[in-house]
Amino acid sequence: MTNKSHTIASLLKEARTILKHKSDSPRLDAEILLGHCIGKNRTYLFTWPEEAVDHDTTSQFYELLEQRQSEVPLAYLTGSKEFWSMDFTVTTDTLIPRPDTELLVQLAVESLNDTPGPVLDLGTGSGVIAICIAHEHPEIRVDAVDSSEAALVIARQNSTKHNACVNFLQSDWYSNVERKDYQLIVSNPPYIDKQDDHLHRGGLQFEPDSALSAAENGLAAIKHIVTHASEHCRTGGWVMIEHGFEQGLAARQLMQDNGLHHVRTEQDIENRDRVTLGQIDERQIGESQIGE
Ligand SMILES: C[S@@+](CC[C@H](N)C(=O)[O-])C[C@H]1O[C@@H](n2cnc3c(N)ncnc32)[C@H](O)[C@@H]1O
Repeated sequence: MTNKSHTIASLLKEARTILKHKSDSPRLDAEILLGHCIGKNRTYLFTWPEEAVDHDTTSQFYELLEQRQSEVPLAYLTGSKEFWSMDFTVTTDTLIPRPDTELLVQLAVESLNDTPGPVLDLGTGSGVIAICIAHEHPEIRVDAVDSSEAALVIARQNSTKHNACVNFLQSDWYSNVERKDYQLIVSNPPYIDKQDDHLHRGGLQFEPDSALSAAENGLAAIKHIVTHASEHCRTGGWVMIEHGFEQGLAARQLMQDNGLHHVRTEQDIENRDRVTLGQIDERQIGESQIGE
């Protein structure tokens, strides 16, 4: 803390220096954090660089800078993250939504344009996927589950904020899901290998482990979701799963082994395998009924 009076420009300059070796984007981080403390957007900071910043705001800013130096993600410091051009509340109970996940939303929305029908989002976290789908298709029923009640509290807040109609339910994957007629099951499940060192650095150490890592080289959740999808999906329905960029082959194999058809993997903007999808068709339903 200091008695010196500060201006927007002087605080930004100081913050850039402090964050220089601690962040890939020191300038942007400084601007977002100061804007958050002042309650103004970045344009305001550029327009009024000589404006004085009061003592309490300056102290709050220094506190956030200290946390940012310790790799606490920006979104946890500001409590929000933009996704699909909408602003979502996030806390340390929820994964911070990643831009890569917009590919999953895009594929889901396109598929529902062709064939509308009820949607299930497994592992909804802050609710981003379900809420964006409900926002684009308000006529469609959207259900979303998570095992974390704390995450669901945030998801419900986000759905109210965006006036989206989503039915949230606490459930260990499908365990409390009764419907058997979903047109679309979507999921961005935990998929990082539990032994992966990345879990302990780069900000990931602040995100809930249950949102990040899974057993069986990161494939356990994907396997469970794919294996039981046909029990909850209608004939012709789709299953779409986000995964790590090295898991495309394994995800396709799992879908094929479980009788899904038209299986393919889509790439993210960096041309890396990101979402694998497959369709439940008549043959699979027929085969499973013969076995009953
Ligand atoms: C990678 S995060 C995805 C969050 C959000 N859908 C997104 O894309 O930002 C995975 C989510 O799965 C949830 N999860 C983990 N295990 C679960 C389980 N057994 N049943 C339901 N949800 C689970 C976690 O709590 C977490 O919210």
